[in-house]
Amino acid sequence: MNELLTAENLDYRDRAREVAEKFVRPLAAELDREARYPWEIIEKLKEYRLMGEWIPKEYGGGQGGVLNLCLIVEELSRACGGVGVAYAVNALGSFPIIFGGTEEQKSRWLPDIATGKRLISFGLSEPTAGSDAASLKTRAEKRGDCYVLNGDKKWNTNGGAAEIYTIFCVTDPERGTRGISAIIAEKGSPGFEIGRKEDLMGIRCVSVHNLHFRDCSIPAANLLGGKEGIGFALAMQTLDNARPGVAAQAVGLAQGALDLALEYARGREQFGQPIVSFQGLQFMLADMATQVEAARQLVYYSARLLDAGAKNVTKVAAMAKVFATDTAMKVTTDAVQLFGGYGYCRDYPIEKYMRDAKITQIYEGTNQIQRLVIARNLIKESASMEPKLVEKREPTTVG
Ligand code: CAA
Repeated sequence: MNELLTAENLDYRDRAREVAEKFVRPLAAELDREARYPWEIIEKLKEYRLMGEWIPKEYGGGQGGVLNLCLIVEELSRACGGVGVAYAVNALGSFPIIFGGTEEQKSRWLPDIATGKRLISFGLSEPTAGSDAASLKTRAEKRGDCYVLNGDKKWNTNGGAAEIYTIFCVTDPERGTRGISAIIAEKGSPGFEIGRKEDLMGIRCVSVHNLHFRDCSIPAANLLGGKEGIGFALAMQTLDNARPGVAAQAVGLAQGALDLALEYARGREQFGQPIVSFQGLQFMLADMATQVEAARQLVYYSARLLDAGAKNVTKVAAMAKVFATDTAMKVTTDAVQLFGGYGYCRDYPIEKYMRDAKITQIYEGTNQIQRLVIARNLIKESASMEPKLVEKREPTTVG
């Protein structure tokens, strides 16, 4: 519904759409085939002043907020889901600095991220700590003016491309989640190695790496907020703000698949007529379009709540993520179905949408974790209400 977008929203959306259509779409298949990082697109995003949209103005960013971030990610993902996340993950990586960094830390790292001079990534997951993020083991021990890091990070999106890494680590193993801290590691620090690159099913142009820390000494000044123990809550707050972005990636993928499916169905003839004239397929297209629009509105709603500074957005951010990403999987699968045998081959770009969509149900918290987060919040809200709806009635007799 364009009518509900402001002039500023439309400006961001249109600039992103131009980058997507002029530069991303023509390259998408090649980037996917070669699993090559989209550096040329990053250059265009800088040129179109889209890098650092979410970063406060005083640090050189656009201060555009979460809705504008979602609009950009949606447009990029409509042309290539990999490019969408290569961009969005910079917001994920920098939110902990924005929310928890000291003034000195913000001034030190945010300006470079805002201009796109240096990319940033988010290091929470580990080989044995995925959904159970609190079980992470990377250890940071204070020695003099430094923290010495030991451990391994897994599935680090933008791992090979970033130069700044927000790393979640244990500073006090006795304190559970309150013993987790966030520290900034910079590429090139001795003992910090960028490990194996994953061979991915989809979003193949993004570099996803293992990270290894072996007696890696990081200045204590890099500890976010200058305080130990705030890392887990910072990670959760970051995910609340970033999940609408992944959801927007899913909306873009679903919309992109629907665009292709519609065009194909109008052109493809069987039984002497375009297949779009068959009611069976019309119903399918109608459902796809309805689901995409419902997902989009939930994503924009969650983003607007975050931009308005609403409290307790955890539940709605998780709802947007789960609904939009399940929609993307369904709509891209239906789009492949509509292309028939051609859809299953690499002759057409549609199969890539289905491969790209799958990861959106997995990363930034699996959809099972989103449902757990939604349910926990529902139960908490219900427990805070005075019980007055469920009243046991006198048994009635029939007849
Ligand atoms: N905001 C602030 N604080 C929060 C919070 C939130 N949304 N949610 C929880 N916390 C706080 C709690 O208040 C609690 O603090 P106290 O100890 O002070 O009370 C603390 O965090 C622990 O909370 P829980 O007991 O709820 O923690 P848990 O271990 O039971 O469950 C979880 C947490 C929701 C399952 C969490 O582990 C989770 O979100 N898991 C999924 C991890 C995830 O999303 N990973 C994505 C990796 S990033 C990625 O994928 C990026 C990419 O590649 C593109």
